[in-house]
Amino acid sequence: MSDHLKKERIGVGIIGLGTVGCGVATILLDHAALIRRRVGIPVEITGIADLDITTDRGISVDKSLLTTDVQALINDPHTDIVVELIGGLQPAKQFVDAALSREKPVVTANKALLAVHGEELYASALRHNIDLGFEASVGGGMPVIRTMREGLAGDQVKAIYGIINGTANYILSKMSEGNVSFQDVVAEAQRAGYAEADPSTDIEGVDSAHKLAILINLGFGTPVDLQDIYTEGVTSITSIDLEAAREFGYTIKLLGIAKWSAGVTASGESEIEARVHPTMIRDESPLASVNGVFNAIHLVGEFVGDMMVYGQGAGSLPTATAVVGDIIEIARNIRVNAGGRVPPCSFRPEFREPVRIKPMAEVRCAYYLRFSVQDTPGVLSQLAGILAEHDISIASVLQRGREQGGRVPLVVITHEAMEKNIQTALKTIHGNLSDLPMLIRIES
Ligand code: HSE
Repeated sequence: MSDHLKKERIGVGIIGLGTVGCGVATILLDHAALIRRRVGIPVEITGIADLDITTDRGISVDKSLLTTDVQALINDPHTDIVVELIGGLQPAKQFVDAALSREKPVVTANKALLAVHGEELYASALRHNIDLGFEASVGGGMPVIRTMREGLAGDQVKAIYGIINGTANYILSKMSEGNVSFQDVVAEAQRAGYAEADPSTDIEGVDSAHKLAILINLGFGTPVDLQDIYTEGVTSITSIDLEAAREFGYTIKLLGIAKWSAGVTASGESEIEARVHPTMIRDESPLASVNGVFNAIHLVGEFVGDMMVYGQGAGSLPTATAVVGDIIEIARNIRVNAGGRVPPCSFRPEFREPVRIKPMAEVRCAYYLRFSVQDTPGVLSQLAGILAEHDISIASVLQRGREQGGRVPLVVITHEAMEKNIQTALKTIHGNLSDLPMLIRIES
């Protein structure tokens, strides 16, 4: 019998004892019997490394497992799988590199690391014929990575629409309920363990962009540079916009959007739209009812059509469930010596195809525009005139009571227009007629 078949247990070394690390330790301990039934042999923690091993984290882990020596944990011959849960680029990358170069499979929840260094890490895992699991990097507990990597492997993904940041979704949901300040909701999300160490990455859309980069790679078989993902967060959304959206039958969500069009460039290449921004979607759209910390991803496949994955997108135990799912998959592969069977990003690297990322200026969609204008005769017709000059057609207009100083909020919904034209028109309107206009893109 070969060595892997004789293995009596699978050892897991965890790096990082934060929100997710504590969740993983809890599940491995509480569900040890269940996991053994699924893997066939015990899956045991060989050690947990963190800079701080004295603070009580409220978990019942044996103190002798705690260490500050990450390299020793990675090198420990009993550690079969290395789990990286410290987040950020460095030293996380250094630890993942160290594990892969020792031919130890890795599980990580680190979306920033994969969005920036994914290609190198996926290639390294494939080269060493070992697994790299990252289910927890997108959508917390909902299994979207496995769905895209394996469930949809036979289809061409055409579009991805994702609520992929729990903190931003929590903020927008709470603000829609009314009577809460932006800062208070951010603080609540931090207390609940949803927000990143630096919550600006959640509210500025950066975390969603990291996750969208991972999904694009899985769905379209191409790496995407983070700089090419247009990224806008939720910090400028006000209760006026949430209310106005409601009046028009829309809900505002922070969406990661990616669309794939085959062979459309002059040289016959495919093209991708990749953007993260607050988006108005119809109230009856399934994503509109995804509230609080829940995430959902609506995928459109050429043959499968529309499908959705839904679940808690952040938080200790939901995210840890995804990590443990990867540990179990890898443990099973170790037992039959099948590491590296599935490429981390589903596509084989030698079959990548060049793809153009459509510049934001060329994107077309409908728009919600909110102006603050002087309430005098002719203002609306001047404004409509400027929009018309830029090939922008109005679908609806809403004007409500005067503000102090005789100004009035004027909301315009446009038909589909080109982003470049909208931006030029808004500059002219801002210079002549309105305070800084508010723009929210609409997806039908
Ligand atoms: N800060 C992230 C969020 C955690 O709020 O979604 C999960 O990636």
